[in-house]
Amino acid sequence: MRILVLGSGAREHAILLALKREGGHELFAAPGNAGIAADATLVPRLDANDPGAVTEYANDEDIDLVIIGPEAPLVAGVADALRERGIPVFGPGRAAAALEGSKAFAKRIMDAAGVPTGGATRAATRAEVDAALDAYGAPYVVKADGLAAGKGVIVTEDRAAALAHAESFLDAGPVLVEEFLSGPEVSLFFVSDGDTVRALSPAQDFKRAHDGDAGPNTGGMGAYSPLPWLADRFGSERAFIERVTAEVAEPVIRQLDAEGTPFIGLLYAGLILTGGGARLTGEGADTEIKVIEFNARFGDPETQVVLARLESPLSRLLMSAASGTLEDEPEPTFSPAPAITVVLASEGYPESPVTGRPIEGLRAAASTAGVHLAHAATAGPDAPGGDLISTGGRVLSVIATGETFALARERAYAALGEITLEGGHYRRDIAARVAD
Ligand code: AMP
Ligand code: GLY
Repeated sequence: MRILVLGSGAREHAILLALKREGGHELFAAPGNAGIAADATLVPRLDANDPGAVTEYANDEDIDLVIIGPEAPLVAGVADALRERGIPVFGPGRAAAALEGSKAFAKRIMDAAGVPTGGATRAATRAEVDAALDAYGAPYVVKADGLAAGKGVIVTEDRAAALAHAESFLDAGPVLVEEFLSGPEVSLFFVSDGDTVRALSPAQDFKRAHDGDAGPNTGGMGAYSPLPWLADRFGSERAFIERVTAEVAEPVIRQLDAEGTPFIGLLYAGLILTGGGARLTGEGADTEIKVIEFNARFGDPETQVVLARLESPLSRLLMSAASGTLEDEPEPTFSPAPAITVVLASEGYPESPVTGRPIEGLRAAASTAGVHLAHAATAGPDAPGGDLISTGGRVLSVIATGETFALARERAYAALGEITLEGGHYRRDIAARVAD
């Protein structure tokens, strides 16, 4: 197939690498980045957020399938335009993508579909924020109601900080004040054709900037998959997946379909497992699964570990979703071998990343056994043969697989040890809890 992937992050690079592994495809990326250039033809001049331009390009170049990576093109209506022209596209239309873009819309859909989630109050003024903060109590959770690249959320014991965070967004519109939910988090991805869903293997993301879950929320600093502790709570990973499919994914997909806005793409369920906690015999009976957020796209960096383990052809899965034939597809299969990813971030990320610095040692890192790299914010060298340059906050993902989490961790951190980026930082505790 001729496949166009929109986006420029490590998620998109991971998608392209999974497609490349299958062999036999012609791959294109818009805009892509310096690392993606080794695995796909870049179309840097194509504006991925311009519905008309993407549709023209896909039509002129006989693209068989467009895969939309980030949320911005979804919100801009790129999928709607492609679908209108009859071009297969993996990614929801603008209306269904509001599941991610508008936390208030997501809450309404969950209410209508009877999907379990925490309490939330919409607050448009300082007085309303004050009242809601007092009603829920500490720890305080405040979210911007719109796209904030994972940085619109604050979770804090500090009431003044929660209020200040809310005030920084109030000019732009209401914020959500939420009930604090406590428990392990799971990212579970569902491929949907608007009617049928197929779950991928669960992953866990590390949202905070620093070790021990300290520091501010980020887009994600690392991830691992599978989650061996799910079997302790639910009997098996499959039992967990079946429960989330029945309690969360199917009701939401049905609700969106009933409202005339079918969701064709990747439904990312960000879940928190509340209650329980101890090893259970009742197979998750006293664990509640609550939704903290939905995204309308693959997660970054969870995609890097989920796709590293995917054995079924990704192109087939996404094409079936795009063309409404997912029902005929078998459940995707995954390697039992663990995968972990560690994100290398620029100095100052997430507050004010310092960019434009050379990155050395990538070849040595990539040749570490069991390791591959997915590039995010990298640009070509200033001069031929020079080093790549960092261009943003999350620079790249190091992905490692191994027979055990301990081995995957050893490999990932050995590879990171080969890379030099002045001021660069990464977490040292990714998947430490599950490594023997
Ligand atoms: P979100 O962008 O909604 O996924 O929030 C980012 C992160 O903030 C989540 O992954 C959680 O770690 C945390 N978070 C968000 N909402 C809550 C909540 N209601 N209770 C506890 N933690 C939360
Ligand atoms: N890793 C979190 C996200 O993709 O939103």
